[in-house]
Amino acid sequence: MPTLGSPLPGKSVPPQPPRPGLRGNYTDARPDYRIPQQWSHYSSDEHALWQLLYARQLRLVRRYACPEFLAALQKLDAGGGIPRFDSVNRKLRRTTGWEVVGVPGLIPDREFFEHLAHRRFPVTVWLRTPQEFDYIVEPDLFHDFFGHVPLLLDPVYAEHLQAYGAGGLKALPLGGLPYLARLYWYTIEFGLVRTAAGVRAYGAGLLSSGAELPYALLDPRPRRLAFDLLRVMRTEYRIDSLQPLYFVIESFAQLLSDTAPDFTPYYAHLAQLPTLQCGETVAEDRILL
Ligand code: PHE
Ligand code: FE
Repeated sequence: MPTLGSPLPGKSVPPQPPRPGLRGNYTDARPDYRIPQQWSHYSSDEHALWQLLYARQLRLVRRYACPEFLAALQKLDAGGGIPRFDSVNRKLRRTTGWEVVGVPGLIPDREFFEHLAHRRFPVTVWLRTPQEFDYIVEPDLFHDFFGHVPLLLDPVYAEHLQAYGAGGLKALPLGGLPYLARLYWYTIEFGLVRTAAGVRAYGAGLLSSGAELPYALLDPRPRRLAFDLLRVMRTEYRIDSLQPLYFVIESFAQLLSDTAPDFTPYYAHLAQLPTLQCGETVAEDRILL
């Protein structure tokens, strides 16, 4: 007889949120955490809030985002209201083979990596409230979609993100997770890139933020260092404030080629080194801005 805590035969354990207290509804998620978007359930207030968020952010990204993002955003054409994942997926699939899948919010690392490795980007289905217009603790639909989805149309970025997912699965038994989490933070979330017009943003945490996007590029306080893979993977990050430190890549091609080597020896090497705080500098740092 099944006891409390042991799943019934033939029934798998329902997916659990990666940490307690998250806002999304995880009870109906599939084992890989997918849930349907249920586009018809969004209210007209939510569509209107999306339009406002989009319009505010569009003005900012025109000045501060990298050209690849702007070109892709235009192709997505998602400013009129909350986009339907199925129609977005038609564009993504034919351009780079990516698709988006609905999720209740943050999901555990293994499932996250598994999706990326198969060119599926998990997007939170719920939208923030009007009170959270400027700042939201958990990633919501606007962050996930506006910040992350456009660049999935860029072939080199798309290739890199899939490789990151496959690398994540490989890193789990090797103890590489903390290093890959830092890499993700300083590239996919808060990365800057040098362009002909100057340094621009490509990280989703910047592209979807009203306050941090101009701060990252113009404010005198944060430091902006040339991207260095091992340096990035040793550097702690802050989740509770504007970033004191950014790393600048030369191109998505650089990101792809710098992360192409087998990381197995890097993880062993990094485990021997002390981690760096975001405020620390090392002799090799190249300060760019
Ligand atoms: N090349 C890495 C490895 O072999 C995987 C990886 C690719 C990690 C891209 C991050 C980004 O482990
Ligand atoms: Fe994100």
